[in-house]
Amino acid sequence: MTDSQALASAAEGHHDRIEQLLSAMSREEKLAQLQIRYHPDPERAKELVRGGIGSVFWPGNVPQTNELQRIAREETAHGIPLLMGLDVIHGIRTIFPIPLASAASFDPAVAETDARVSAEEARSGGINLTFAPMIDVSRDPRWGRVAEGFGEDTYLTTVLGTAKVRGYQGESLAAPTSIAACAKHFVAYGQGEGGRDYNAVDTSWYRLRNVYLEPFRAVVEAGVGSVMASLNSVSGRPMHANPELLTGVLKEEWGFDGPVVGDADAVLNLVNHGVAEDEHDALVLSLASGLDIEMGGHVVAADGTTSILPGELTDERIDDAVRRVLQLKVRLGLFENPYVDAAAELDAPTQQSRSAALRAAERSIVLLKNEGGLLPVKPAQRKVLVVGPYADSTDHNGAWVMSFGFETTSTINAALRDLLPDSEITSCEGATFFGSNPALQEEARAAAADKDFIIVTVGEPSALSGEASSRSDLRLPGDQEALIHAIADTGVPFAVVLANGRPLVTSDWIARAPAVLEAWHLGTEAPAAIANVLSGAVNPAGRLPMSFPRASGQIPIYYDHENTGRPASVGGTLDQEEIDIGVVGPNNLDDRFTSKYRDLELGPEFEFGHGLSYTDFQHAELTVEPRSLALDALRDGELFTVSVAVSNIGDRQGDEVVQLYVRDAVATLARPVRQLRGFSRVALEAGASENVTFSVGWEDLGFWHGTERDGDFAAEPGTFELHVGPRLDATTELTVEVTR
Ligand code: BGC
Repeated sequence: MTDSQALASAAEGHHDRIEQLLSAMSREEKLAQLQIRYHPDPERAKELVRGGIGSVFWPGNVPQTNELQRIAREETAHGIPLLMGLDVIHGIRTIFPIPLASAASFDPAVAETDARVSAEEARSGGINLTFAPMIDVSRDPRWGRVAEGFGEDTYLTTVLGTAKVRGYQGESLAAPTSIAACAKHFVAYGQGEGGRDYNAVDTSWYRLRNVYLEPFRAVVEAGVGSVMASLNSVSGRPMHANPELLTGVLKEEWGFDGPVVGDADAVLNLVNHGVAEDEHDALVLSLASGLDIEMGGHVVAADGTTSILPGELTDERIDDAVRRVLQLKVRLGLFENPYVDAAAELDAPTQQSRSAALRAAERSIVLLKNEGGLLPVKPAQRKVLVVGPYADSTDHNGAWVMSFGFETTSTINAALRDLLPDSEITSCEGATFFGSNPALQEEARAAAADKDFIIVTVGEPSALSGEASSRSDLRLPGDQEALIHAIADTGVPFAVVLANGRPLVTSDWIARAPAVLEAWHLGTEAPAAIANVLSGAVNPAGRLPMSFPRASGQIPIYYDHENTGRPASVGGTLDQEEIDIGVVGPNNLDDRFTSKYRDLELGPEFEFGHGLSYTDFQHAELTVEPRSLALDALRDGELFTVSVAVSNIGDRQGDEVVQLYVRDAVATLARPVRQLRGFSRVALEAGASENVTFSVGWEDLGFWHGTERDGDFAAEPGTFELHVGPRLDATTELTVEVTR
């Protein structure tokens, strides 16, 4: 038998097994498969499994995992193994950078490695399904869950989300090192009004298609095992009761054949949304809409009873949902081997996983500002003070880690001492995350007096980001801003290290801080990675995956906005003198009636894609071939090839992130002023050069048209601008023509 014959016959065998099971199962047994539940009490968990539940949350250890699988296999009528799910978001034993930080690496390998290591560790303990990746594009940093996603850009989210799915699922889901991914949250969860978690979303098909649906379409194409519905409503229809999107787009249009998983108790939440009268109504509505697994365990009780009456759901819908669940179990190889070997469990980081996490963390750090090449810390600066609530903090693992035995991290202070044994390093707290403590600030001032260099470590504790952690004010909490001012007042050179899970508003202090490093929540190896970058052992090259606003009132702010009919060229200032002489508004009359805030400079504090290096790069010889293509040729797959020569003209090794943005100059609908369509992170020794090329085709120049669901994807003839460079504010422009 050839390989493909073997695969075909295996697929046929699986198909037969699923159909046989379906014909042997009662309605209640089928419905019992359509739920997942966590129960902390092991005896209650066993009861649920004996009652035929299809999926459970991972019970936390191998013996219980095996026991639950044994009960499912040996003590239930059909011996169907269990899906064991857990939120393995950026690691389970070895913790990788939060996804927002990993997006800052502009390196799909970082996301893929995180997922691969996570999958190996998770599956070795019996987990076979993770509720990740989160691919909710969000332009609102008030939303705490931006920590879990890849930021504001659809393209970057798509590339990294797909990489993460590849990493989790590996070559084959049945491998003992693979777990099924669950792309979440479907859909537009990142646009909740006011950045408040779970809030309503009202959006157009134009934006749904071009911004929010695109990453999901890509991971479905890449074979993602499951998809989770989101907790928000879209244009009045809660996603757990949204047949148009769950069934119409996801399943019918895209051909997704895995299960759609509900979010925690979100089916019951339909009652609060006001679209279901009670639990029973909510269950029927969501399953009929296309949900396949209810998260909460309300479909069938452990005693086998259900409130869903015969005829309330069609047999076809029930069979379709069960088929999706069984198929995933088959793909995971659970019928052949549902058990795991306790002796082989990877229950702690290995040397290899640690170095992968260290590399990921180093690659995720962004140098936001570095006046006069202040960083890295110079060897002559021997007396160093590490000050701030993050100096001796171990809060580097981020918001989404589960309490299943990951280790506490070291601290920035300890890591610097390890790395710089010849320096004299001292630390103090200086400020608190909550409230204010003037005595700490006094102590910091005194400690600063005789130092050569000060590292101010401030940020947002991880408990303030993640789920249900929206914030209305994105400045540093507590009295941390005052600490930065106090240190600046001492006149000692200093750098700020930020540890946080979302873009922050830095305008109160940014002008006074000569150097700023964005270090997010970077996981197990965070302190070592930060120390390596501060000392210069590693040259930072991360780029921001989300804009940092100047003020919270400026949100949503994102780089790929439409131009408006009245774009502003000058920022607004409220100037008393001008008001006195009767000039109301900004200081430039020509720019009076334009789209801006009267009291704010234009644009964000730090833009999407921003990031510096300890070395300098030069971009030259930007070319594109051909200069023009016919629309038909473009549709048939012909490409523009863009090329740029990048040189490291500084005196040390470094990575450059070359970014390619497009703009459709004139189209039938208003298009974004820039759209990321390619990026490449290249490592260059001092003095070295490399040619970087990008292909730009139909997919890159086209967009989803129409305000109705069935709008098509197409590029339009006309002029396209291509902008290439290391950052949005340093690009070079070329144009190409697409002819009729
Ligand atoms: C979150 C999901 C998560 C689920 C299970 C929910 O509250 O919204 O993202 O997968 O809990 O932990």
